[in-house]
Amino acid sequence: MVREILVYPNKTLKRISKEVESFDGALHDLLDDMYDTMRAQNGLGIAAIQIGVALRALIINIPLDDPHGEHYIDDEMGNDQPKENTLEMINPVIVSKEGHRKYQEGCLSIPGVYEDIERAKKVQVEYFDRNGNKQVIEDDDFLAIAVQHEIDHLDGKVFIEKLSFLKRKKFEKEWAKKFK
Ligand code: CO
Repeated sequence: MVREILVYPNKTLKRISKEVESFDGALHDLLDDMYDTMRAQNGLGIAAIQIGVALRALIINIPLDDPHGEHYIDDEMGNDQPKENTLEMINPVIVSKEGHRKYQEGCLSIPGVYEDIERAKKVQVEYFDRNGNKQVIEDDDFLAIAVQHEIDHLDGKVFIEKLSFLKRKKFEKEWAKKFK
């Protein structure tokens, strides 16, 4: 089911999400709703808090076909994300980070805004799948960036908080205009 996505500066987005304790049908329904909601907006990832659920759950689905050689959130690429390719991460923890890299990010909670953000280039992440099995993943490409972006959501943070003071000020001014 497609759910409503909370839009910045909705205060709920600042909440620290709690660990998932039951890997049950309710969790599976949540993950399925997250997928439907993400796909409805042509997103590449979403955290549970973005649909108002403060649980440490996120999903990422990187399109198979990548004509630009870059993973922008882009309508043109919204049709190549089969559900079985979705990475579902419950209670994820970054256990190691290496290097630095700038990448252009966007967010379903801040639609239409794309900014270069610096993050670690390579991460190793431990997490649980939807059945409660422990998994580990390592990546030094787009997935590494996406995981860091989504884990920030679980900690109540959005990517524009990583902008420089001046860029943030400019963003806030332009964003406020949208809601007048
Ligand atoms: Co986001």
